[in-house]
Amino acid sequence: MKTIVTTAYRPTSSALAWANRVSAELEILQVPRNKRSIDRMQEDEQADLLVCLKERLEFYPMGKTEPFFFHPNSAAFRTKRPLEQDPLIEVAGLVPGDSFLDCTLGLASDSIVASQRVGQRGRVVGCESHPVLAYVVAQGLQQYSNMPHLEEAMRRIEVVSCQAVSFLQTLPADSIDVIYMDPMFTEEITEASNFTPLRGTADRGQLTVQWVAEAKRVARKTVVLKAHFRSQDFERFGFIRRMRPNTKFHYGVISIEPESKQ
Ligand SMILES: C[S@@+](CC[C@H](N)C(=O)[O-])C[C@H]1O[C@@H](n2cnc3c(N)ncnc32)[C@H](O)[C@@H]1O
Repeated sequence: MKTIVTTAYRPTSSALAWANRVSAELEILQVPRNKRSIDRMQEDEQADLLVCLKERLEFYPMGKTEPFFFHPNSAAFRTKRPLEQDPLIEVAGLVPGDSFLDCTLGLASDSIVASQRVGQRGRVVGCESHPVLAYVVAQGLQQYSNMPHLEEAMRRIEVVSCQAVSFLQTLPADSIDVIYMDPMFTEEITEASNFTPLRGTADRGQLTVQWVAEAKRVARKTVVLKAHFRSQDFERFGFIRRMRPNTKFHYGVISIEPESKQ
């Protein structure tokens, strides 16, 4: 499905200029709104819509009238608790100064938590294969300003719009401390979240032998997988599953032993 960019019903000159910029950067068509509703415009243009409002970008995949937009989501409350007790941070063994590659950036909630943990001396790169999602999240990470305690962590995240395996192949061996993957669950999830409008649009690709092999080559400390508690991917790809009672998802970890790389 193609994506086009437009504005609100009555665009300000800055929203129009922004839509121009988005059109050029994403190499997509800019189409005048002409006071059309979202569903009318999707129907007329047969396209997903990216809408430049005054303060944020909204993405309406075809057939969805609820927008997707950037928000720190779970990172907002997770970063209010001691970070070393966050299940992802703990299982990854992530410490200040580490580098962290999130192969499946999505809304960037996990990356924000990781970025808060690694701090100024650390580095966080987020890889997302859906180009429009990568763009909306990258823009939000740079501009979102309602949570001052997370600003520095959000601004630090470098977003790459790319397939995870292709990106990993560009990286030298042993160059990133922790590599993380959280592919879309294949099981039905009933809880609504900010991600709900993207369910049919995001990349539903699953873990592969090549993906795990590349992650192990590039990782210095750990490779971490998040998956549904019923997923067999932990065992299939050699992750040690960390049981989390009463949760819908588990984490699994592969610890990198330097001697295993020789
Ligand atoms: C479940 S979401 C990740 C949520 C994320 N952990 C967060 O905290 O918001 C999975 C995301 O990974 C992306 N994705 C799936 N397969 C990918 C791949 N092979 N390379 C890069 N991104 C991928 C999807 O488009 C989706 O946005």
